[in-house]
Amino acid sequence: MRQRKPLVVANWKMNGNSDLVQQMSDALSMLKQPLPEILICPPVIFLTHFPKHQNYKLGAQNVSEQQSGAFTGEISADMLTAAGVTHAIIGHSERRSLYGELDGLISQKVKTAVDAGLTPILCIGETLQQREEEKTLEVLARQLDAVYAAQPYLLAHSVVSYEPIWAIGTGRTATPEQAQLVHQFIRQHLAQYDVDAADALRIIYGGSVTATNCQALFAEADIDGALIGGASLKVADFSAICEMA
Ligand code: G3P
Repeated sequence: MRQRKPLVVANWKMNGNSDLVQQMSDALSMLKQPLPEILICPPVIFLTHFPKHQNYKLGAQNVSEQQSGAFTGEISADMLTAAGVTHAIIGHSERRSLYGELDGLISQKVKTAVDAGLTPILCIGETLQQREEEKTLEVLARQLDAVYAAQPYLLAHSVVSYEPIWAIGTGRTATPEQAQLVHQFIRQHLAQYDVDAADALRIIYGGSVTATNCQALFAEADIDGALIGGASLKVADFSAICEMA
């Protein structure tokens, strides 16, 4: 029996439309318990389009580290919570690589999210070159320490998502064994900051998860769910993944 409630997250990225909102909310509303915790992270514009339902929650794909002010294009944690949002993806590899988000900023965002009552989903992961150079664990430790070493209280309020960059959008998923090894390392590494929080922490996997490969991943002891991109835009596939978690 799992000791941590599974979490399945849909990261629509910059995709979707009001038809998909309606189709997804209809489908998820009809799923029967027991279900994992289900989180939909659409583009912000669609967050208020989702009917409220007990079967799913709503999350943001990013959040500002600022509270308010002259920050064009940004959205604050308080604005998100006021709209009924419960989680925020922070430090996604696309934010890091395309928008220059560094560990220090990501750490500030995690703190801002927790202090506002949001659950941060901290994304970490290595490049193919880093994996091939056997630097994976060194990279992940750096990304984790940047957030939790100075602020260990954040751990009890977090979710961590391991997303090997070489598996995102490529169809090349980490094997269950590869992912389990890394998830086990993440849990053991974070235990130095808070043993109980590390044990309770949900560590989810992201990177080409589909309805075909998700069950083998979910069967691993330290894989507590998934962060899903492409497959979350397909209503039937995402619903099936939720039912298998
Ligand atoms: O945040 C999840 C995403 O990066 C994974 O994308 O398309 O490989 O499932 P995808």
